[in-house]
Amino acid sequence: MSEDFSLTKLNKPDWNNLNVMDKKHTPIIEAPSKVKANEPFTVKIKVGGIDGVEHPNTLSHWINWVALYAGDRLISRTALGAELSDSYILTINVTLKESTSLRAQEFCNLHGVWEGKPKEITVE
Ligand SMILES: [Fe+2]
Repeated sequence: MSEDFSLTKLNKPDWNNLNVMDKKHTPIIEAPSKVKANEPFTVKIKVGGIDGVEHPNTLSHWINWVALYAGDRLISRTALGAELSDSYILTINVTLKESTSLRAQEFCNLHGVWEGKPKEITVE
């Protein structure tokens, strides 16, 4: 049995066997599957909360940042302060020129970087 998390490698959950750490840390992307080229649309990222298992938000343990990529290109990285951010739900406006795969990552100060399922976006 491996560790529940890594501080030196990207953490990706086993979707067939999610553990509590996965449920707390994995970012989930909500976005339309099809969009129009060069027209902004909203991407929502929720960190954790899978099956109601929320990540803590305290001065000693919190999600420090959330990043969104189109393929390997950075779209946005949002820094979060400890304790005062109400929830780990972010909305980001995105404009794409061509079809891509959105990827979301988050960094927990105690448990490292986590990435969830990519979201394929078809640009028409
Ligand atoms: Fe954590």
